[in-house]
Amino acid sequence: MVFQVPILWINLIISLKEIIMSVNLTYHGHSALSIKTNGTNVLVDPFIKDNPLTSVDLYSLQADYILVSHGHEDHVGDTIAIAKNTGATIITNLEIANWFSAQGITNVHPQHIGGGYTHEFGYVKLTHAHHGSSLPDGSYGGNPCGFLIKALDTTLYLACDTGLFGDMKLIGDEGVDLAVLPIGDNFTMGPKDALRAVKMIKPTLAIPAHYNTWPLIEQNAMKWKQAVEKETTTKVYVLQSGQSINYKNNQDDSIDNLFIET
Ligand code: NI
Ligand code: MN
Repeated sequence: MVFQVPILWINLIISLKEIIMSVNLTYHGHSALSIKTNGTNVLVDPFIKDNPLTSVDLYSLQADYILVSHGHEDHVGDTIAIAKNTGATIITNLEIANWFSAQGITNVHPQHIGGGYTHEFGYVKLTHAHHGSSLPDGSYGGNPCGFLIKALDTTLYLACDTGLFGDMKLIGDEGVDLAVLPIGDNFTMGPKDALRAVKMIKPTLAIPAHYNTWPLIEQNAMKWKQAVEKETTTKVYVLQSGQSINYKNNQDDSIDNLFIET
């Protein structure tokens, strides 16, 4: 059929446009994420080399920005090596930003809890997190944080390492499309508290993180998905390490344009 060729091309162009206009999130296991939006690569808590859930080569990771939620080794991870390799700007709290500067990293953007800033890829606000934040060498790492990111009409909330807290409701009031929540228990919220968090945040979509890295934080994410989807209207995507989703916010809040890549 003569007409099918141009239609295929039009569909391909539409699909490519959907990908470009969407937020792409790749899970590397534990709390490490790659987010691509507006053509910018943002790495979050890049714990790669010692992360048993990923075999990705840290020198293959693209980064224009690296977000670091707190000082613990499983979050600072390979930030210094990646920042040196890519020249990425590190966004973190003031204390950790100063610590990175002292390690010879010049591109740092310090922020602090409650403070937002519009970076080239979108707006980033540091949110509360109830946890610790000492740095790998024992230095003071300030208070830990989560991240609220607004890019391409999409609002992401990365809770990072935290216990449940009531002000998650205030974060939910900002209209969260996609929330990444720890479910591992022991060091952070477990599945039950993460379900209570979903009820406060009311995201369209939730992704579980910070589990199954070690026996101490082993959890059944599919069981958590079932519980969340039974008790709330939030949809849960359990991403395997290396899997990505594209999220495009629609006016009607539907998630028709969401698809998973492996
Ligand atoms: Ni931690
Ligand atoms: Mn952690």
